[in-house]
Amino acid sequence: MQSKRLFDRIDSIRFTGITKRYGNSFAVKDLDLEIKGGELLILIGPSGSGKTTTLRMINRMIEQDSGNVTINGLDTKDVDPVRLRRNIGYVIQNIGLFPHMTIGENIGLVPKLEGWEKKQQLERIKTLLNFVSLPPEMFMDRYPGQLSGGQQQRVGLARAMAMDPPLFLMDEPFGALDPILRKQLQKEFLKIKDEINRTIVFVTHDIEEALVLGDRIAIMNQAELVQVGPPEELIFNPANDLVADIVDTQRKFKHMDTLRVKDLMSPFENKYVLEGNTEVCDAVDEMTKREIENAFVFEGEKLLGEVTMVDLMKCKSKSQKLIDIARPIKTFQPKDSVAFALSELKNSGEYLAVVMNSGEPVGILVSDEVLLKLI
Ligand SMILES: Nc1ncnc2c1ncn2[C@@H]1O[C@H](COP(=O)(O)OP(=O)(O)OP(=O)(O)O)[C@@H](O)[C@H]1O
Ligand SMILES: [Mg+2]
Repeated sequence: MQSKRLFDRIDSIRFTGITKRYGNSFAVKDLDLEIKGGELLILIGPSGSGKTTTLRMINRMIEQDSGNVTINGLDTKDVDPVRLRRNIGYVIQNIGLFPHMTIGENIGLVPKLEGWEKKQQLERIKTLLNFVSLPPEMFMDRYPGQLSGGQQQRVGLARAMAMDPPLFLMDEPFGALDPILRKQLQKEFLKIKDEINRTIVFVTHDIEEALVLGDRIAIMNQAELVQVGPPEELIFNPANDLVADIVDTQRKFKHMDTLRVKDLMSPFENKYVLEGNTEVCDAVDEMTKREIENAFVFEGEKLLGEVTMVDLMKCKSKSQKLIDIARPIKTFQPKDSVAFALSELKNSGEYLAVVMNSGEPVGILVSDEVLLKLI
């Protein structure tokens, strides 16, 4: 018998007047914070500032002294903590896989406790292992000790996803990994995040990680929330020196890594669009009229490539169609890193790219312009 879900999706998680003390000192003090459904909210701040305590008060691993935490308006105090936790995925640094259980058993533990049938459990385990890029036939029967740190971390994520919870709490999940592996897992995680589209509260020490992954970032210091907002707000409008410090000092060196294409692209304008079945002579007229030197050729919604006035001029047969002469063009997505985009453009000797967001052009990336904006 499977117990009913507490919630299918998260509308909001709300901390109201939350305080937690240990002895005379505050771990979290007077916290008011709303986490919106579907967002990835980062908690960042110095060691001991109260991040883990805040996270754990959501699933009642820690109980507050005063104040309320509500999920979709439901006060967590009114929910059985075990039931609450089974509805919330929890991923920590050293994941805490059970060493005497196989990878499959670790992932399937909660479904088993929830009374799923064997066959159903097995299917879920396989799906999840595939999802985190660990072929089930290779990994299912191994023990945690036989996996690398990065692989174990993937299993930790898979296990947290077992019941397909609408909410994930992640406490420095990549903290113990070396920097390169960390980047790789962050990249994979971004993809997973987009695919599963869940609400995530994510603790990190690493501002770069915060800027790459976070929809909003909450900065904590000495048990208090200092500022919460989207990355650009913290960068351009820091509430105090601490925030400026956290966001800025590291950005001076690393900003290329953390900026995304969407931060530096120019808006896409329809005047640059020509249809693939336009004839060359018509295209020349049209481009002249629109005062443009290059155009992006689309066939319906599909981007075929680019033509320039020079290309068109060189064309012998003016009745040729653009579809036949358009040159493929680089495309990026808004969330791609600017550093990556620039190096791709440089390698291919191009200076221009179209930014596509799920099939729709949303911007243009011009390498020189990007470099200017970065200085
Ligand atoms: N069980 C406990 N007993 C006493 N004090 C505690 C306990 N747990 C946490 N604290 C204290 O509460 C404060 C906040 O701890 P918390 O673990 O939330 O910090 P954090 O921001 O997650 O730090 P870190 O970045 O080092 O993980 C710290 O001063 C910590 O020492
Ligand atoms: Mg912590």
